[in-house]
Amino acid sequence: MKILFLGDVVGAPGRKMVREYLPKLKEKYKPNLTIINGENSAGGKGITKKIYKQLLESGADVITMGNHTWDKKEIFEFIDEAKNMVRPANFPENNPGKGMTFININNTEVAVINLQGRTFLPPSDDPFKKFDSLIKEAKKRTNIIFVDFHGEATSEKQAFGWYVDGLVSSVVGTHTHTQTADDRILPKGTAYITDVGMTGPYDSILGMDRNVVINRFLNGLPARFEVDEKGRNQLNGVFITIDPKSGKSTKIERIIINDDHPFLL
Ligand SMILES: [Fe+2]
Ligand SMILES: [Fe+2]
Repeated sequence: MKILFLGDVVGAPGRKMVREYLPKLKEKYKPNLTIINGENSAGGKGITKKIYKQLLESGADVITMGNHTWDKKEIFEFIDEAKNMVRPANFPENNPGKGMTFININNTEVAVINLQGRTFLPPSDDPFKKFDSLIKEAKKRTNIIFVDFHGEATSEKQAFGWYVDGLVSSVVGTHTHTQTADDRILPKGTAYITDVGMTGPYDSILGMDRNVVINRFLNGLPARFEVDEKGRNQLNGVFITIDPKSGKSTKIERIIINDDHPFLL
């Protein structure tokens, strides 16, 4: 089982990179399953129905979310019907949408779980406890379990990775928009990376117009962050290979595409 995952797609530049490079990445890696974090795909904040469909049409099988899940109000109108979307499972119990989904790939089921950290992020239920109940449900159906842990703190993501080592196939971190170089297979077979990074503006600060962010640091005044649509773009992802029987990962590889790291077939 081969899974391709792309980090937080930011705005129109991110979607353009997905359209341009996902077919090439599929040709190179031949993934069975493609998962994309879409929490910033609409103007940098949230997702719309049109963009959700667009990402699926571009080649994604599942869309994961994060703290920006509810930023576009129309999400409430379609999330319950969005079969291939997961938002953090540890949001309050009565929230719309779901935090785990099962997808059938050539008669093999894969569970995709989205969780959100609690350090430097809005309050949510305990992701570790939530995981304890989800894993029981998932294991009844499959050994192949993929987790997008959306978190700010490296320590919290590492703690989660070690906590679930051997229980899931992979834990990929998202949210910081900056790829970390700690991709590895933990001793009991869980592929892990603290943060996959982002797909979108390259000459930006986390996808946003850098001058606005710099000014905010200089003068401390409130400012509206806008997606940088003028500069160069980048794509960040990971490619994971999983033994389908045991659900253990055998390989994790980081993907970086930008002008400093050009795409090679
Ligand atoms: Fe994000
Ligand atoms: Fe986020």
